[in-house]
Amino acid sequence: MTFLVVANQKGGVGKTTTAISLGAAMVERGSRILLIDLDPQANATSGLGVSKSRDGVYSVIVKEQPIAQYAVKTSVANLDLVPSGADMAGAEVELVPLMAREFRLRRALKEVAGYDMVIIDCPPSLGLLTVNALAAGDVVLVPVQCEYYALEGLAQLLETIGAVRERLNERLDALAIVLTMEDRRNRLSMEVAEEVRKHFPQLVAHTHIPRTVRLAEAPSHGKPITLYDPASRAAEAYRELAREIESRLRSRQPIALAGSA
Ligand SMILES: Nc1ncnc2c1ncn2[C@@H]1O[C@H](COP(=O)(O)OP(=O)(O)OP(=O)(O)O)[C@@H](O)[C@H]1O
Ligand SMILES: [Mg+2]
Repeated sequence: MTFLVVANQKGGVGKTTTAISLGAAMVERGSRILLIDLDPQANATSGLGVSKSRDGVYSVIVKEQPIAQYAVKTSVANLDLVPSGADMAGAEVELVPLMAREFRLRRALKEVAGYDMVIIDCPPSLGLLTVNALAAGDVVLVPVQCEYYALEGLAQLLETIGAVRERLNERLDALAIVLTMEDRRNRLSMEVAEEVRKHFPQLVAHTHIPRTVRLAEAPSHGKPITLYDPASRAAEAYRELAREIESRLRSRQPIALAGSA
């Protein structure tokens, strides 16, 4: 089982869209996926058509309730969700005085079984919730919006990943940067994509996600793009990304094995 964290402290860059769409595309390839919505905004929860008012990740990380109790089915078979909701609003602060506050999610995830991959959707900050995700993760996927200031914050995020690896979770690795909301008719969008690629040639995924209104519409129907508009460019892009992520995961295997020997 792989634990994949979708993180970027910048808001609105496509984290949730990527977590949902990638998860749904992985399911099409035969994987069983558990998505953890760690964001108090609960966008992944509502985007998958699940009510924000049911108990979920808060009970797991703050109250230490067994996670299996809170995983619910979504509109996609084999894509289950641990939802977020209103109770998460104070979680970041409530975690502070708790024992092993950085490891609450990691501890909870030890009991997860029956999935090929756990995808964790983070809030737009580098606070304790995101640190919990990083402390529990194997790999990090960083969506970056093809807009001015795209690079801003990226260095800080990679530093945080490095600090977490050193202090909390030596397994953690940055897996890929995914360029999102790319507009091929917009010169700035293309220049930014080029710039990010120049800075991080190994890390930037070959697959870019186009800007399309279909992706913005899908959440209001409670469905991932692969169900909402299966033949769309966006659905195809996320299928391509799923293939690329699988191959990146496969090729890092020997490193992981060498590291644990
Ligand atoms: N490729 C895309 N094309 C068009 N719209 C998109 C695309 N990706 C995401 N969006 C829309 O942009 C907005 C932000 O995307 P999303 O919620 O995935 O970002 P986020 O990083 O999770 O945001 P937050 O930081 O608030 O959690 C949403 O309204 C979403 O529907
Ligand atoms: Mg989000």
